[in-house]
Amino acid sequence: MTILVTGGAGFIGSNFVLDWLAASDEPVINLDKLTYAGNLENLASLQGNPNHVFVQGDLGDRELVDRLLAEHQPRAVLNFAAESHVDRSIHGPEDFIQTNILGTFRLLESVRSYWSALPADDKAAFRFLHVSTDEVYGTLSKEDQPFAEDHRYEPNSPYSASKAASDHLVRAWHHTYGLPVLTTNCSNNYGPYHFPEKLIPLMIVNALAGKNLPVYGDGMQIRDWLYVKDHCSAIRRVLEGGRLGETYNIGG
Ligand SMILES: NC(=O)c1ccc[n+]([C@@H]2O[C@H](COP(=O)([O-])OP(=O)(O)OC[C@H]3O[C@@H](n4cnc5c(N)ncnc54)[C@H](O)[C@@H]3O)[C@@H](O)[C@H]2O)c1
Repeated sequence: MTILVTGGAGFIGSNFVLDWLAASDEPVINLDKLTYAGNLENLASLQGNPNHVFVQGDLGDRELVDRLLAEHQPRAVLNFAAESHVDRSIHGPEDFIQTNILGTFRLLESVRSYWSALPADDKAAFRFLHVSTDEVYGTLSKEDQPFAEDHRYEPNSPYSASKAASDHLVRAWHHTYGLPVLTTNCSNNYGPYHFPEKLIPLMIVNALAGKNLPVYGDGMQIRDWLYVKDHCSAIRRVLEGGRLGETYNIGG
């Protein structure tokens, strides 16, 4: 058996691929466009590992994704690939719409066409797991309860709006076509291979260099942080035991 992961050269995806292959012999097909956020160095320890097949490409490239699905016959597709940086989405939202919305749509269509043609047992066992963010729920004030899965969607940035749209597409492909989907909505992650422009690595790098520590807004924002490897283990748990069509909040 095999799984196909998109975005496996990014921060969370690379941690997921490394953890997966450390614990299992099941091969991973890793499809990643290698944008500024993708870094093959994250996966250097997998060099020569026949269970890791890296393919550079876009999740929205129907021809490529159709071919990968037909060739490798995965039992699951896990969608980590996204434009993920909120500040970048404010300065240039276009890529977020392309990858997070159109890309997810095209990936869903490739997966639907592959899944529809599977033999009954494989079809029943197949899973599409969509990795998303709790930012789709908006922001909490100090007095609010943590987000629950039934919190209404209130995205506030182009990033979270594009992820919210992708979550809705995934949901609709389940309700309309019966695609066996699972969605996870996670809080902020930290840990190995975090992109240096993100808050925690930026603070550490600046502090080590004796530079100023940039404060966002008035410095009063509160964030929940989850260790990336805990996120990855929650994703493995949802993949194996999640209820079809369900969404699972992680962390927070
Ligand atoms: N980082 C967080 O704190 C956090 C929290 C919750 C959810 N998430 C979600 O988890 C997923 C992974 O986040 P991350 O922090 O690892 O992101 P990241 O930006 O570090 O990595 C994204 C990866 O996707 C690849 N990619 C981008 N566009 C692509 C495309 N069109 N086709 C194929 N590959 C493409 C990039 O090259 C990169 O390797 C995202 O969907 C994000 O929304 C992230």
